[in-house]
Amino acid sequence: MKALVIGGNGFIGSNLVDLLLKNNHQVRIFDRYPNRFRAPLQGVDYVVGEFSNHGEIAEAVAGMDWVFHLACTTLPQTSNDDPVYDIHSNIGGTVQLLQECVKNKIKKVVFISSGGTIYGVPQTAPITEDHPTEPICSYGITKLAIEKYLHLFHWLHGLEYVCARLSNPYGELQNPDAKQGAVGVFLGQIARHQPITIWGDGNVVRDYIYIGDTVKALLCAAEYDPEKVKGPRVFNVGFGQGHSLNELVAAIKEVVGPQVEVRYTEARPVDVPVNVLDISRARQYLNWQPEVTLKDGIGKSWDWINSLQLK
Ligand SMILES: NC(=O)c1ccc[n+]([C@@H]2O[C@H](COP(=O)([O-])OP(=O)(O)OC[C@H]3O[C@@H](n4cnc5c(N)ncnc54)[C@H](O)[C@@H]3O)[C@@H](O)[C@H]2O)c1
Repeated sequence: MKALVIGGNGFIGSNLVDLLLKNNHQVRIFDRYPNRFRAPLQGVDYVVGEFSNHGEIAEAVAGMDWVFHLACTTLPQTSNDDPVYDIHSNIGGTVQLLQECVKNKIKKVVFISSGGTIYGVPQTAPITEDHPTEPICSYGITKLAIEKYLHLFHWLHGLEYVCARLSNPYGELQNPDAKQGAVGVFLGQIARHQPITIWGDGNVVRDYIYIGDTVKALLCAAEYDPEKVKGPRVFNVGFGQGHSLNELVAAIKEVVGPQVEVRYTEARPVDVPVNVLDISRARQYLNWQPEVTLKDGIGKSWDWINSLQLK
């Protein structure tokens, strides 16, 4: 297939591109920035552009079969600072993209939604896809709105899509200097001989999933035919198990050694206390399941962080 990966130079996108190439798909990357951690790959068609620019996105979609939509201009913790920007840049840009997908008869749009924010404060753990959606950040609301537009475009125009409500991915190519992604940030701090900083008391529970397992789910989502099996189009993608930040630090210490200093700072209002996803639906319909344990995944991430020789 000819696959367009929007946001393909980022953490999840780069890993997805590797998997697509390994499976002999043709790849075009649309991104506003080059890849921070590696040189351009041979055989990939790189397009530099701004997602909200209608003309640029129209050109990028032309001639493609699959579109993976991974671009996002905001983060959960900062999106509440400027919801108007969040709405304009993410929802407006996505609706333009969907119009182009219809025009170009795209076979499947795979959208990376957010299992960590879309449900809000969970009433159950693990959380199924039928759980109420009450996001407590603008980022979660725009992700939900985009899911609804995908549903609308399917209803109106037959555009086929899958939404992957992703939990907390970690692994190779995760920026250690980013403002999200505890595993990458912590390992980066350790590599620089700095203390780990935890917001709150470390009891916040998250569902950490290794990036290799994550991108396999995205490829399965592209290959899946919901019409044929009369199946759903929205899936949780996580490991399905929760670990507190303190447990995560303990697992990190098992890999890197015990000499890790931890500092606790004030909790953040956007952090829901527990978020663990029920992944039964993805197991059943996508024929997928995560395989890499937290300890093994941290080991792979640590090897990669060390290869960066951070100063
Ligand atoms: N990393 C996580 O913890 C996580 C969890 C759930 C969902 N997601 C979602 O997955 C997607 C990818 O996340 P990631 O962690 O790989 O992020 P990332 O920041 O590493 O990568 C995103 C890429 O998109 C590009 N991009 C962003 N806005 C753009 C724009 N307006 N025009 C062109 N390119 C643009 C960036 O340059 C970057 O290369 C996002 O939609 C994010 O919301 C991420």
